[in-house]
Amino acid sequence: MAIRVRAEAFTYVAHALGVVAAVMVLVWCIHFRGGLAFHSQTNKNLIFNIHPVLMLIGFIIIGGEAIIAYKAIPGRKEVKKVIHLVLHAIALIVGIVGIYAAFKYHNESNIANLYSFHSWLGIGTICLYGIQWVYGFLVFFFPGGPQTLRSESLPWHVVFGLFVYILALSTAVLGFLEKLTFLQSSGLAKYGPEAFLVNFTSIVTILFGAFIVLTAISSPPGVTDDFNYSAIYNTNISWRCVLLEFKSLLICPN
Ligand code: HEM
Repeated sequence: MAIRVRAEAFTYVAHALGVVAAVMVLVWCIHFRGGLAFHSQTNKNLIFNIHPVLMLIGFIIIGGEAIIAYKAIPGRKEVKKVIHLVLHAIALIVGIVGIYAAFKYHNESNIANLYSFHSWLGIGTICLYGIQWVYGFLVFFFPGGPQTLRSESLPWHVVFGLFVYILALSTAVLGFLEKLTFLQSSGLAKYGPEAFLVNFTSIVTILFGAFIVLTAISSPPGVTDDFNYSAIYNTNISWRCVLLEFKSLLICPN
């Protein structure tokens, strides 16, 4: 059975969910948590608040938009490739600054570093993201690998990229859960508006990620080319093909 779905519809839903998630995390950190600051002598929590804002808006949302750039933006392949790698670079840099903010908050508040599963997963994810970006840059952009290496690397680039992105989503949701648990242990109402806001931000984040992945594996608008995500699937998504891809180590029967 083959289900044929075009990417455009998914991209609109993904953009809308990204805007909603960004607004929610800003309302949480600014309205409920007191605001954002890189330096504060009196309230170190303001330094921490930079972390979820930059990780969600920078790493997850801009990173997600980078993934779907080939499907969401009309135009030539070369232009889309540059937008894809630039958005990923922005996501990576903003993600590194966001992690720096978490370390700064810990160090200035005398809290231990890297003790939680969230932090381990976070460091692993950002390292894999960086490796994926550098490999993609060298092989597909500059200086660019030989044709055989590019075509053999492409399916791995797509699957590994989506794997790292799902790791990033998991890390972010764990982060929301961890912070909310800390706050509830210190007296925050379990069914209060802030708790609902944080939990719904996690839900919207997961939905956003789901639509990014759906967009990435669905049909591109217009004609396909050799170096976009559609290279694996040609013009139509086939779920049987997707399953066979994973089962037979990315050898598509088409
Ligand atoms: C993919 C996105 C994210 C990554 C890669 C990430 C990564 C990290 C890292 C590496 C640390 C350790 C800092 C240290 O030990 O000094 C950390 C701390 C923390 N993060 Fe995140 N984070 C992400 C998103 C979030 C989000 C959305 C929240 C929501 C509030 C959050 C909440 C926390 C909390 C509460 C800590 C301090 C406690 C701990 O170290 O686990 N994180 N994060």
